[in-house]
Amino acid sequence: MSKLFRRKPYSTSNRTPLNRVLGLWDIVFFGIAAIIGAGSFSSLGEAIFRAGPGVIILYIICGFACAFTALCYAEFASRIPTAGSAYTYAYASFGELIAWIIGWALIMEYSFGNIYVAFSWSNYFTSFLDRIGWHIPDNLTCSYSEAYKAVLHHSANAKLLNAWKIAPVIGNFKLILDLPALVINGLITWLCYIGIKESKNFNNLLVIVKLAVIILVIFIGIAYVNTGNWFPTNPHTKIQSFMPNGFVGVMSAVSGVFFAYIGFDALSILAEETKNPQKNLPKGMIISLILCTIIYIFLTLILTGMVDYTKFDGIGDPLSFIFAKENANLPWMEFIVSFVAVIAITTVLLVFQMGQPRIWMAMSRDGLLPQKFQQIHPKRKTPSFATIITGIVVGVPILFTDKTFILDFTSIGTIFAFALVCGGVMLMPKREKIKGKFSLPYINGKYAFPIIFIGGLITFYLWIPHFFNTLLDWSDQKEGEFRISIFFFIVINLILCVLAFVKNLSLIPLIGLCSCLYLLTGMNHENWYWFGIWFLIGIIIYFVYGYRNSKMNKKHEQLV
Ligand code: ALA
Repeated sequence: MSKLFRRKPYSTSNRTPLNRVLGLWDIVFFGIAAIIGAGSFSSLGEAIFRAGPGVIILYIICGFACAFTALCYAEFASRIPTAGSAYTYAYASFGELIAWIIGWALIMEYSFGNIYVAFSWSNYFTSFLDRIGWHIPDNLTCSYSEAYKAVLHHSANAKLLNAWKIAPVIGNFKLILDLPALVINGLITWLCYIGIKESKNFNNLLVIVKLAVIILVIFIGIAYVNTGNWFPTNPHTKIQSFMPNGFVGVMSAVSGVFFAYIGFDALSILAEETKNPQKNLPKGMIISLILCTIIYIFLTLILTGMVDYTKFDGIGDPLSFIFAKENANLPWMEFIVSFVAVIAITTVLLVFQMGQPRIWMAMSRDGLLPQKFQQIHPKRKTPSFATIITGIVVGVPILFTDKTFILDFTSIGTIFAFALVCGGVMLMPKREKIKGKFSLPYINGKYAFPIIFIGGLITFYLWIPHFFNTLLDWSDQKEGEFRISIFFFIVINLILCVLAFVKNLSLIPLIGLCSCLYLLTGMNHENWYWFGIWFLIGIIIYFVYGYRNSKMNKKHEQLV
């Protein structure tokens, strides 16, 4: 049993076969590249429609949760400057089995996340081509499952219905596939394969263009803001408010908003390619997260100020939509923004596609995956085999999955990994502060955490007693699901209060863990069901392969 939780000791040696070429600002650029993408350029529209201008509150809540998690990542990254992300950190704190589970969950963040991003890239790319008069047949720009579901559910989506209608039949199958998504996945895989240096230069250029256009949107947009739009009237309830659908409406947008923040953690994977990683990684992570949060708040203020929130229903390209004829009527801005969205989303693809092979490389070094996954290209100095496998793992599901499922699946896996990272920091032994290295400030949570949590509960009880009085009523399917989640959230946090009191746990990771757990309450039962199946498959693979082949079985082996 104890073998399942054996912990990997780490040396802080800087030896690595990879090229150390990334400085602080490269890290910040990679952060922005990974964070700002499909979430802000695409799913922001749906989030505004659900939440109204109040979506800003959700950006602040998610930013808050991610900032605390980033501090925990930074603490780990400064202690363990080796590639592998949350997986590596969990191996040092929770032990092998949990590390494997996290590594397995991270496939959902990186590979599955990239499937969603590739679909979004394809949407923007095809609509951009349409604007310049080049049309790709509809059956080559959507997934088979989307078109099939559209026909099955009598959808009004003309594009999907047309795809089904015009698709040539080969054998028993209609030829429907998202060709641009497949092609961009192939190109990005190739770029990651040919080397980090080339990828870095390409990445920095793309990020500069992306930031320039976002700043342009903000400055041009200011002139068109109507402050009355920040307090719109709900067309059904006639209530005029910053949150026209109430706080429930705000929380219903959590999955899409959280997705917009995913990516800062990818930076820790670059530890072996970073100069002075103990200093540059934590700084880079926090700077990029702060910058992105500020950008999101400004963008949301501009979007919700320029156009009434109800108009964002079904809008997949909100940043260009605000300049459309029926809104600000600036066709040149509409054109530029849709072009740059393609670029912005490309940078996310690049960072995630680089992240996945590096996690597998770390797992392979530990013996939990076959040796082939740690193979470094002799000339390119990249994890070549793992990079190709990533391309296949992202590419094949593009043929038969759809965006909504993938978005939820990615979010649940990522929040789960974040929660474990925060938990892991609390298990690390205390250490001396070293000058020039990041060190997470220790604030004793003994009294502070119970006061904050229980105080918060009492405040909410006084504010909305009805919610607490019906907490154990799980009869209504939808409301019941939420109440069950909140019930477990409260129970787990009360246990944390006791642990904080008894063990003097550190306050920052406690708050990080608590806020990640809160975000998990936004997941529905179907998400948990699929997550459970994924989890089970991972456990089986661990016992069949990893447990037996772990390097920790061979004590004489030199650990990295
Ligand atoms: N945060 C990344 C995006 O929005 C995943 O595309």
